[in-house]
Amino acid sequence: MAYTVPKLKDLSDATLIAAVNECIRACEAEADAVETEAESKALRDRWLGRKSGILTRINEEWLRAAPKEAKKNVGARVNELRFQIEARIIGAEESVKDRQKKRSVEADRIDMTLPGISRPIGAEHPIIRTMNEIVAVFRNLGYSVQEGPEIETDYYNFESLNFPPNHPARDTQDTLFIANQRTKPLREQLLLRTHTSPVQIRTMEKIKPPIRIVIPGKVYRNDPPDASHSPMFHQVEGLAVDTNITFGDLKGTLDHAMKAFFGSNVKTSFRPSFFPFTEPSAELMVSCFVCGGSGRRGSDTCRPCKQTGWIEILGCGMVDPNVFEFVKDNGYDPARVSGFAFGMGADRIALLKYGVDDLQLFFQNDVRFLRQFA
Ligand code: PHE
Repeated sequence: MAYTVPKLKDLSDATLIAAVNECIRACEAEADAVETEAESKALRDRWLGRKSGILTRINEEWLRAAPKEAKKNVGARVNELRFQIEARIIGAEESVKDRQKKRSVEADRIDMTLPGISRPIGAEHPIIRTMNEIVAVFRNLGYSVQEGPEIETDYYNFESLNFPPNHPARDTQDTLFIANQRTKPLREQLLLRTHTSPVQIRTMEKIKPPIRIVIPGKVYRNDPPDASHSPMFHQVEGLAVDTNITFGDLKGTLDHAMKAFFGSNVKTSFRPSFFPFTEPSAELMVSCFVCGGSGRRGSDTCRPCKQTGWIEILGCGMVDPNVFEFVKDNGYDPARVSGFAFGMGADRIALLKYGVDDLQLFFQNDVRFLRQFA
């Protein structure tokens, strides 16, 4: 039965003490039963609530109703009672808090004896590693690294590289154009860059000569994927501009770079070629590092060089003066400076280097394949 404030039949000490004890016992029993925060709040309201709490009613019914001469004694008893009740309620509140704390410590507890989660450490992708190795060769020669956007304008990808407006490379055959660009002037139209060469112009706009830079990055062409093609692939570009740079510098630099990358016994050979932004232009051939240039492997023919003993590695040439005209205002006066540029496909070099015969394997992200290079 819930405790209610009794009417006292007299105010004798014996009656008072009995009533006070009964009240404390009732409060104690209720406090012991409290388990939750809501219950401890209800307990406090029931006993100490200002308007209609039990202690307020005791005040009214026992103390205020007492005759004048009894007030002092009754007052002292009621005060003592209040003190005892408050102590019981605070006790109940604290034990609720204690229990909550224990529960949350319990929930946060870490079992140090459980086995750990091991996260496998990743490794450089073979193409990225190949690019990094090529870049490192040029960094050792004092070249710094530059990068540019993969979504490019017609201006940087073609116009400023001396591609005439109707050059076949601008045809949808090769270039992936961004949709809905036709309302813009041609030079502002967006496309996926087809080579890293636009970063040549972007860098020359920012940095005055002399410069020596390497540009690693992704490029895109409208080629269906097969064993040697991918609509996305990787290039490493290079550009050196200074006064008196000659074709001899181009040959010496690239010969050194190929020996540093493929091994000191490879030979290099330059064949005439054409690019709109270099004049003269060349293709660099490296003696086949698989068969040593013989075209044969034992009694078999050498596949990587198709028996020729040579492997084509990159395109290069002397920067065309028409290209410098676009950045003349930043110190690239074609009458004063000259330079060379080169660009190579990192994917093909990685294929050759690791003896992989299908380019698609690099992009399928099968860890059983990739793990072999880690
Ligand atoms: N950008 C050319 C290509 O993608 C390669 C190249 C770069 C040629 C620099 C000459 C100079 O085929």
